[in-house]
Amino acid sequence: MNKILTLAALGMLSVASVAQTTINIDAKKPGAAIPSTLYGIFFEDINYGADGGLYAEMVKNRSFDFPQALLGWTSFGHVDVRNDGPFERNPHYVRLTDPGHGEKRTGLENEGFFGVTVKAGADYNFSVWARSVDQKEAKIRVEIIDPASMGESQVLAHKDITIIDNGEWNKYKITLTPKQDVKRGKLRIFLVGKNSVDLEHVSLFPADTWKGRENGMRKDLAQALADLHPGIFRFPGGCIVEGTDLDTRYNWKNTVGPVENRPVNENRWHYTFPHRFYPDYFQSYGLGFYEYFLLSEDIGAEPLPVIMCGLVCQFQNRNDDAHVPVNELQPYIDDALDLIEFANGDENTKWGKVRSEMGHKEPFNLKYLAVGNEQWGSLYPERLEKFVTAIRAKYPKIKIVGTSGPDSEGDKFDYLWPEMRRLKVDLVDEHFYRPESWFLAQGNRYDNYDRKGPKVFAGEYACHGKGKKWNHFNAALLEAAFMTNIERNADVVEMATYAPLFAHVEGWQWRPDMIWFDNARSARTCSYYVQQLYSLNKGKNVLKTTDAAGKPLAGNDGQKGIFASSVVDADGSIIVKVINTSEENQTVTLNVNGLKKKALAGVTITSFSSSNLDADNTVDAPDAIVPQTKNEAASGNTYSATVNAKTFYVYRFEVK
Ligand code: AHR
Repeated sequence: MNKILTLAALGMLSVASVAQTTINIDAKKPGAAIPSTLYGIFFEDINYGADGGLYAEMVKNRSFDFPQALLGWTSFGHVDVRNDGPFERNPHYVRLTDPGHGEKRTGLENEGFFGVTVKAGADYNFSVWARSVDQKEAKIRVEIIDPASMGESQVLAHKDITIIDNGEWNKYKITLTPKQDVKRGKLRIFLVGKNSVDLEHVSLFPADTWKGRENGMRKDLAQALADLHPGIFRFPGGCIVEGTDLDTRYNWKNTVGPVENRPVNENRWHYTFPHRFYPDYFQSYGLGFYEYFLLSEDIGAEPLPVIMCGLVCQFQNRNDDAHVPVNELQPYIDDALDLIEFANGDENTKWGKVRSEMGHKEPFNLKYLAVGNEQWGSLYPERLEKFVTAIRAKYPKIKIVGTSGPDSEGDKFDYLWPEMRRLKVDLVDEHFYRPESWFLAQGNRYDNYDRKGPKVFAGEYACHGKGKKWNHFNAALLEAAFMTNIERNADVVEMATYAPLFAHVEGWQWRPDMIWFDNARSARTCSYYVQQLYSLNKGKNVLKTTDAAGKPLAGNDGQKGIFASSVVDADGSIIVKVINTSEENQTVTLNVNGLKKKALAGVTITSFSSSNLDADNTVDAPDAIVPQTKNEAASGNTYSATVNAKTFYVYRFEVK
């Protein structure tokens, strides 16, 4: 920390030496309405965000359908992998037969995702599809074990299951309650007695999932999403939508219906970064499109599915032949139309019926659909045009989201924006992972955007600190500063979602992310709190907010690193966000003009700062850096305050 910051932290800077900034807020004429979708979230199965993360399944490769059928499993005795199982799209299963001697055993152990982690006294629901062989009753024992422990204490919970002798596949369920915690536990299953048994789709879930659902989500992680009160939920990616090749693209139809029959797909993030190689990273699709729609509904966010546009990942495929030719796009366009029917069709439609049979008779009321992720060049509009024509013809009310490519500016961006206008998409998805200097220079980014063309969706962004591409407070602070520009331009920016949501501390590929977790704990980052402060204080209408010279406060020359924006809420409260990105404490004078006969009547101040700008919350110290709130008196129409160096403030003024 430099000397000025140290002094600031110690409160030793005298008021006489501080810079002073005037912030004029025009409360007389509320501006654009804040879209309910403005602050949202972006989910991708990266960093073990779904399998091994939000999706609470604890068994890896539960259906034996990874390319190496026993990946994640250790087998002992006589275990055969067979492929004529009851679920045609996941055909593999295992047969356990008697190893021949009473003291020998046949069975398998599953290592889970970075361990099978359990808590003492908590319930875990085990289930398996099983079949007796030769119509002879068989028995298996199921255990949760601590492999590091010796003797009887190795087995933390166990139960036997009798497999009836009818030779049919049936689902068997038990609940296990471990007597001790274990971090790197395993699930062990072995044959008891001489009769063989077939096992398929072996599953272990905590009983206590989000909303107690059977095929549920991890409670702490789903709750963290709900606590953000997001207005929009973009899923399932990101590059994962496109696929490394056509076979591995994200096909939403493979992710609905009974979980047992959702075919496993590889996860591109298992090999995308050679230095972060995770050969056991696949997509089970247990968390599929039905679950994503349901989650959107639960957390009150509009769903925003992204579908593949016929272009596989352009970063990984520089050859035009890798993509779907324009004249062969129809099946992909049909997938898009069918998805809208799945979400919105009634139960008499083919796909509406699938949704209804999964448990949601009422439509999900889908309003937005993104076609493509980070595409570029003429390959994209050529394909997008076909999708736009077909979607407009059948579902004219659906808002279509196109993309401006992977860059925040430059050739690709400059080519695609006019193309998006030509195709009359409703929104354009912009992505920017950029350094500090970019964020500091973008305070006016949207001020001059064309108000007549498509709206903006800032679909993925994060401050990638120079030499510090990880979560830390200063990056979050600059994101907060940048967001004043989003808020001020809420008439043209309809939605904004930060970088990926989740990252497992032992299995990440991409930083920064909003929420870090291990198998038992999670930490909300500083960037999470910035998003939450905006979301909880989004208000109803933008208020014009300028410096003494009438210019927006965007950290420009003469504004000494101060960014600010303000809104009026439904109850008349005025919410002002001020970010001091400079290294000096300063004073600001907020003039709230046009209050008519009303006046300020108290203020709730939330401040967010960190004594270490490079630090963030961790699973070991999840509450190290959290916003602080206090109340103060306020009256008249002027309020003066000291804004400390490197601090984000939200002032919520009561007006009476
Ligand atoms: O967020 C990780 C990746 O970053 C996304 O998959 C992609 O859209 C972007 O390049």
